[in-house]
Order: sequence, then C-alpha cells, then structure tokens
Amino acid sequence: MLVAVTGTPGTGKSSACDVLARRGYPVVDLDELARKEGLVTGRDELRETDEIDVDALREGLHVPAKVAFVKSHYSHRMDVDVAIVLRCRPSVLRTRLETRGWEAAKVRENVEAEAIDAILQEAVQHLRSVYEVDTTEATPQETAQAILGILQGKTTGHEPGTVDWTSEVLSWY
Ligand SMILES: Nc1ncnc2c1ncn2[C@@H]1O[C@H](COP(=O)(O)OP(=O)(O)OP(=O)(O)O)[C@@H](O)[C@H]1O
Ligand SMILES: [Mg+2]
Repeated sequence: MLVAVTGTPGTGKSSACDVLARRGYPVVDLDELARKEGLVTGRDELRETDEIDVDALREGLHVPAKVAFVKSHYSHRMDVDVAIVLRCRPSVLRTRLETRGWEAAKVRENVEAEAIDAILQEAVQHLRSVYEVDTTEATPQETAQAILGILQGKTTGHEPGTVDWTSEVLSWY
C-alpha cells in the first residue's frame, strides 16, 4: 500500500514522516527523488522553489514495500492508494512559516492555499481514498499516530470536509 502524505508547506509532513521513518516505515521524499532522477525542470524564482516534472516522477515511481509513504506537497498526484492531507489552522500556519524566515508574499500565498483547501480539493479530484489530519494542536508523534490509525480503519473524523477554516477566513473580512 502506497500512502501519500501531502499538505500545504508547513503543515508538518516532514515532521510526521520523520516519526514514521523512525518507526521503521519506508518514506520516500519526492523532492529528493526528483533531484536524484534529474526531474527538476527549472526554478520558480518568485516562489524560491524547484519546478518538478511531476508526471515523469509518477511514471517512474515504484516503491516495492508492503506499506510505504511518499512525502511532498504534490504526493497526492502519484499513483497512491491513499492520500493523507495534513492541515493547519491558517493563523497558526502563518506563524510556522514566518518562523522559517519566509517572505511575506510566500507566507501569504501558502496561508491562502490552506484556507481554501487547495490541496484537499486536488487530492479528492485525483483519488478515491483521501483523509485529513488536523496538525494545529498535535505533536508530530500524534500526527503520525493518526496517520497509522487511518490506515487501520480509524477514519472517523478524518473524512474530507472535516477540517473547515471558513469561520477563521470570514473573520479576515
Ligand atoms: N504537529 C506540530 N505541532 C507544532 N509544530 C509543528 C508540528 N509539525 C510541524 N511543526 C512545525 O511546523 C514547521 C513545519 O513543519 P514541517 O517542516 O514538518 O512541514 P512540511 O509540511 O514538511 O513543510 P514543507 O512542505 O515546506 O517541507 C516546523 O517548524 C515544525 O517544527
Ligand atoms: Mg517538509
């Protein structure tokens, strides 16, 4: 079973996947794989991010493990069995991203993407099996535990649409 761990930058994919890796689960960092496979096609200078040939990455991806995780904010675009979308309350995500020293425009773009469920929407368009985990008040250990729980069938409270930032977004106006 191949599981995508996806979500807006700063929602805690790497932190949760570090815990999963420490517990012995194979975790593939797709950004790292793209660099290794020569699938970085350019640089988005405005966003200070690499442009990656996601389709080529999908076509070349084979993870021969019983259960494995693929990590990146586009991992839900791989041929996965399940996608887990990590979420974070926009006001808290803002603080997490500012702490990284990211510039205001980049912080804002990502906070807005989180607020409008951008990655969740993409995931449900591509895949049948999509779940959400709210990391706002969770430790990386708790997030990893929730991910493993979902794979064991504990999906209640993680169905798409469970996380809802509309009341916070409305307070912006
Ligand atoms: N559950 C959590 N509770 C509080 N802070 C967290 C949690 N998970 C991650 N963080 C913090 O939020 C920040 C972003 O986490 P992380 O780097 O894991 O995100 P990411 O989703 O992998 O981001 P990117 O897509 O940019 O790689 C880090 O500073 C991390 O310490
Ligand atoms: Mg990361």
